[in-house]
Amino acid sequence: MKNIPFFLLLALIFACNSGSNSSSSSSESPYEEKIDSLLSIMTLEEKIGQMNQYNGFWEITGPTPQEGAAAMKYENLRKGLVGSMLNVTGVEEVRKVQKIAVEESRLGIPLIIGYDMIHGFQTMSPIPLAEASSWDMEAIRRSSEIGAREAAAAGINWTFAPMVDIGRDARWGRVMEGAGEDPYLGGQIAIARVKGYQGEDLSDPLTLAACVKHFAGYGFSESGRDYNSVDVGTSTLYNIILPPFKAALDAGARTFMNAFNDLNGIPATGNAFLQREILKEKWGFDGFVVSDWGSIAEMIPHGFAIDSAAAASYAVTAGSDMDMESYIYLNELKKLVESGEVDEKLIDDAVRRILRIKYELGLFDDPYKYCNDEREKEIIGSEEHIQGVLEMAKKSIVLLKNEGQILPLKKEGMRIAVIGDLADDKDSPIGNWRAEAISNSAVSVLEGLQNYPGNSYQYAKGADLILGPTAFITEVKINTDDRSGFAEAKRVAANADVVLLILGENGFQSGEARSRSDIGLPGLQQELMEEIQKVNPKSVLVNMSGRPLDLSWADANIPAILQVWHLGSQSGNAIAQVLFGDYNPSGKLPMSFPRSVGQLPIYYNQKSTGRPTPPGGDVVFWSHYSDISNDPLYPFGHGLSYSNFTYSGLKVSNEGRKVTVSVDVKNESERPGEEVIQLYIHDIVASVTRPNKELKAFEKTLIEAGQTRTITFELDERHLGFYDNQGNYIVEPGAFDIYVGGSSNTSLGTQISIQ
Ligand code: NOJ
Repeated sequence: MKNIPFFLLLALIFACNSGSNSSSSSSESPYEEKIDSLLSIMTLEEKIGQMNQYNGFWEITGPTPQEGAAAMKYENLRKGLVGSMLNVTGVEEVRKVQKIAVEESRLGIPLIIGYDMIHGFQTMSPIPLAEASSWDMEAIRRSSEIGAREAAAAGINWTFAPMVDIGRDARWGRVMEGAGEDPYLGGQIAIARVKGYQGEDLSDPLTLAACVKHFAGYGFSESGRDYNSVDVGTSTLYNIILPPFKAALDAGARTFMNAFNDLNGIPATGNAFLQREILKEKWGFDGFVVSDWGSIAEMIPHGFAIDSAAAASYAVTAGSDMDMESYIYLNELKKLVESGEVDEKLIDDAVRRILRIKYELGLFDDPYKYCNDEREKEIIGSEEHIQGVLEMAKKSIVLLKNEGQILPLKKEGMRIAVIGDLADDKDSPIGNWRAEAISNSAVSVLEGLQNYPGNSYQYAKGADLILGPTAFITEVKINTDDRSGFAEAKRVAANADVVLLILGENGFQSGEARSRSDIGLPGLQQELMEEIQKVNPKSVLVNMSGRPLDLSWADANIPAILQVWHLGSQSGNAIAQVLFGDYNPSGKLPMSFPRSVGQLPIYYNQKSTGRPTPPGGDVVFWSHYSDISNDPLYPFGHGLSYSNFTYSGLKVSNEGRKVTVSVDVKNESERPGEEVIQLYIHDIVASVTRPNKELKAFEKTLIEAGQTRTITFELDERHLGFYDNQGNYIVEPGAFDIYVGGSSNTSLGTQISIQ
């Protein structure tokens, strides 16, 4: 803060002398006067600087728009032309850039430091789709909190999470980062994550500001190809895509990120309907919107903006407040304001929003509050965090099939063959969004099995899954030819009491830019599985993938299947505990598993269509495929347990629009187990057609051996209505089916009438 004229200094001291409060409404915010004073002394250039976000100097999460940019970034930090940086991590590095912004720029406005802490920072939790399988909101909150604590201890104060994009198409690699296909479950998970990241107090140095993304529609990228166009109707937009965003906002999420895609012809980044009309005006959001990486510039190749100036103008008018790595705001906005093409009020509004969040984080009180060397050492990788991610990992596993109760395995006296490259893989379980995880640091399946030394294990890889090294930014090369390990694997399998087939996807096969047109087991794994099954049919498939795969052959031929996803640092320990019954699996699918890639997009909350049922005989004129059934292989909500739950005694009554539903759930087995009791509705006739089933409530509960528990749900207008095509929430009188069960394919239901 050298060289500041005295009157400016006074104004600044006033502006910076804040208390800490994380209020989410501008009208209640204690910072507005301070923001006004600060704004009044900022030059236009400095304001635009606040809207400019640079990537760090070494880590790339997208195409670099300029060569040799580091020197220019340092210079602009000094000039006060940078509001935020991403991918600067670690106390030492964060302190370095913060020091330049605070001590060398004219006004000394602190930076907000963003990072993709998606499912852990160094101690890795399961990928978000796996966590969603737990249906355990407290566990997800806690897991998000662990990641936030580690990232915050490393100097970061803002995470680009939660991603709340609905995923109906497993070809899209980013389904791993979301909560699956359902807007209600997705909304509940969004709330849990926002609470986990932001805690009770945004100014606490161990919490982060959340960034809900990608607003909006990104999960509907056509044919599952990342960055592709999105064309969805208003009903899907209002009822499926937007609700999780609204839930996150209502939970207090302080920032949003827009999206790469165009939505019905308008890029999300330049989409005033989404950002201004819905998010900021209708929903009253007073935080700020950051663009996705380079998405302001990408409006040019989209064919929407003719040049950078037009892109800047569209983006700022539409409500994109901060430019992530396009460099366009900094280069274009000043000229646009001076020529009168862009109203300076738009700039003031954006800057006000950004400063508000910086105040709430407490950065004006102490810009170095996230930079404490001791805390960094103490918190990252703590034993408490390791135990926390292990708990989360166990809860994330889904038992898809268990014919003849082949699982759990005995702990003593078994000869167990372990087949598959992924069994010995300490890297894939970390997943694609690996933040600062140490490569090859996860507990592998082979290591996890060593916790059960009463059995003997023989390992044969069978075939390599991948060829060569992997990296975040390059394609994974898959082994499609080398079968030289097949013979040894068959020999080992033939001599075993049971075979564990540890198959699936490499950690870098899902995530951003990792779309696949074939969602079978990659490489030679399907062939290997079929060969092994011929020599020893007593096998268990442990599927380690970042998306639902086509497991049709396995379902028909392999007696037991565990879906373990990419489970993070404690993967092998969690898998072993489930295999040997020390943890009774309780996960349920947040996303349908198709019978074939041709069924995609597939989701349980389909509509009836005008031709839902076969006319009889061989007549073809109904909505179906000639070669496959319509239903998924494993539906949304499906997941078995080593216990056996039965449902009976469904009671539904209503007084006006208040509905009470109760059901008796009995654990018929001799072991305690957790069950997720799910409630679905079907609004049979409505002014806009409604899905055949919609999840409206669920409860995860422990039921002791032999015990019956009565579960009661209360529904009201918030559950019974929907958004019409103008975006109004309405409840229409008429008949509703109410279903309860342990999966979306439950048929235990009854009908009620709502007036
Ligand atoms: C692009 C991704 O779409 C977004 O989710 C992420 O937060 C940014 N890159 C920053 O890494």
